Amino acid sequence: MIAAPDLRVDLGDLPLRNPVMPASGCFGPELGDLIDINRLGAMVTKTVFAEPRSGNRAHRLAETYAGMLNSVGIPSRGARAFIAELLPRYRNWSPPLIVSIGGLTVGAYLEIAERLTRVAGIAAFEVNVSCPNLEAGGLEIGAEPQVVEAVVRGVKERVEVPVFVKLTPNVTSIAAIARAAETGGASAITAVNALMGMAVDWRTRRPRTGTAMAGFTGPAIKPVALRCVWQAAQAVAIPVIGVGGIATVDDVLEFILAGATAVQIGSATFTRPDTMVRIIAALEARLSDEGVVSVRELIGALRTDSPSATVPMQAG
Ligand SMILES: Cc1cc2nc3c(=O)[nH]c(=O)nc-3n(C[C@H](O)[C@H](O)[C@H](O)COP(=O)(O)O)c2cc1C
Repeated sequence: MIAAPDLRVDLGDLPLRNPVMPASGCFGPELGDLIDINRLGAMVTKTVFAEPRSGNRAHRLAETYAGMLNSVGIPSRGARAFIAELLPRYRNWSPPLIVSIGGLTVGAYLEIAERLTRVAGIAAFEVNVSCPNLEAGGLEIGAEPQVVEAVVRGVKERVEVPVFVKLTPNVTSIAAIARAAETGGASAITAVNALMGMAVDWRTRRPRTGTAMAGFTGPAIKPVALRCVWQAAQAVAIPVIGVGGIATVDDVLEFILAGATAVQIGSATFTRPDTMVRIIAALEARLSDEGVVSVRELIGALRTDSPSATVPMQAG
């Protein structure tokens, strides 16, 4: 009998039984009523802030072709409620728990890190730098390499588990930001968060979400996310977690070839709650069909040796 393919991957010091996990904000303990969470490679929480904060005003969601816009605005019940009420619920499952943390100033990231350090049951932190920086006129924290490096270094100094950094795609050079995260001490890069988008209802002459600008996610952003993963993987030596528009096992394999060690599933879970578990089963079957012994063989194995693939492409 042929052995089942090996789906195990390592995110630095964090071993995963398979490379598939949820994207922050698109998963919670309630999904346990619908799928077997123990099948997942890891669990990822919605971004937690040090203090409670409310989200944005309605409407918070709008559909677009092949994607969605959200202006949820990251409501959070704060660190205290997270530790007391939410964290114990995640202990019902075995996959490692990655806790996403956010802040609106550099100091706020250090505060949430201090509040959650040495709290049992946290396997790693994912620093969400797609938050407005109140000290820089609302520019995203993740838009400037020096700020990213300072946030990551500060969090890293305060916690004892690996620190991942989730990049925003809304930057000029994702490679420069990825390198800053690595210099600051990150163990892995997650790429990417939502693209900035907008939807307009011309009849009411209003934006279709409460905040005019909103986060654009879903299948439509896959080519952008894939390109960001590719650029980040070229720029750093630490593992990259790919996220953006993934809905099928083929999408997962494309991200892995482009350099992702693991992947996260976001919007697709809203369409079909069983997307992650279906993908894990399909990944095993697909690797087996292809005679691939370990998924690790495929990480970054994209061939770029044809002349057309090495010439920088111009749009248009
Ligand atoms: C409703 C919603 C809420 C989200 N909340 C968060 C969040 O709290 N923290 C975060 O880092 N990303 C958040 N994201 C972004 C996702 O984690 C992911 O990066 C993005 O949706 C792209 O992946 P997808 O195309 O598979 O959805 C959210 C996305 C959606 C759609």
